[in-house]
Amino acid sequence: MSPPEVVRLEAGHLDAVRDFLNGLPEEDATFIKEDVHDPSVAEGWCSGGDRARRLVARDGDRVAGLASVVPLHGWSSHVGELRLVVSPQARGRGLGRELARRALAEAFDLGLEKVVVEVVAEQEGAIRMFDDLGFRGEALLQRHIRDRHGGLRDLLVLAHAADEEWSSLASVGVEEDLRPG
Ligand SMILES: CC(C)(COP(=O)(O)OP(=O)(O)OC[C@H]1O[C@@H](n2cnc3c(N)ncnc32)[C@H](O)[C@@H]1OP(=O)(O)O)[C@@H](O)C(=O)NCCC(=O)NCCS
Repeated sequence: MSPPEVVRLEAGHLDAVRDFLNGLPEEDATFIKEDVHDPSVAEGWCSGGDRARRLVARDGDRVAGLASVVPLHGWSSHVGELRLVVSPQARGRGLGRELARRALAEAFDLGLEKVVVEVVAEQEGAIRMFDDLGFRGEALLQRHIRDRHGGLRDLLVLAHAADEEWSSLASVGVEEDLRPG
């Protein structure tokens, strides 16, 4: 079977996206923020219509991972929030890193000046991955989220700024994705 490929989300992916969302453990579904059990959520994503950019990692007919860049509003409209989830069965094969790298390119293509991502503070692997892509820690929100057992955990906000980071974008291959043609 050919390796997973990362493509922009489109209408034809709707059923596969629903299956992906339904298969996510509750804990991982929280990274998406919208209610993944509401059928209109996936429909809205697949029909586009908002400013967000969404990418899926396709593994044959299935969706193995999803990344979104959601522009914020008002005085933070220059900032995009990155959300990223890979299905537990597909982790550790480089999909998360590739989705994050491509989502960053989409964010800067949208003209956003800064991208933020929220990570549970003890997820060292994920933090290392974002650090490699040029994200830096900007805020630690203590006891900010509840896990599924009701335990309180710290949330780390990582940020990537477009302006000072062109050399680091080049080093992770994002610059290539932004070049016209
Ligand atoms: C974070 C996440 C997207 C990584 O997906 P993935 O496909 O496993 O990532 P990759 O295979 O590209 O791994 C990227 C690197 O991070 C490391 N890594 C990622 N998640 C890790 C974890 N939970 N524990 C240890 N290492 C981890 C890998 O070792 C790898 O390092 P390497 O490239 O030096 O080997 C996935 O674990 C996930 O969906 N987690 C739940 C949601 C989440 O935390 N999202 C991030 C904030 S929105």
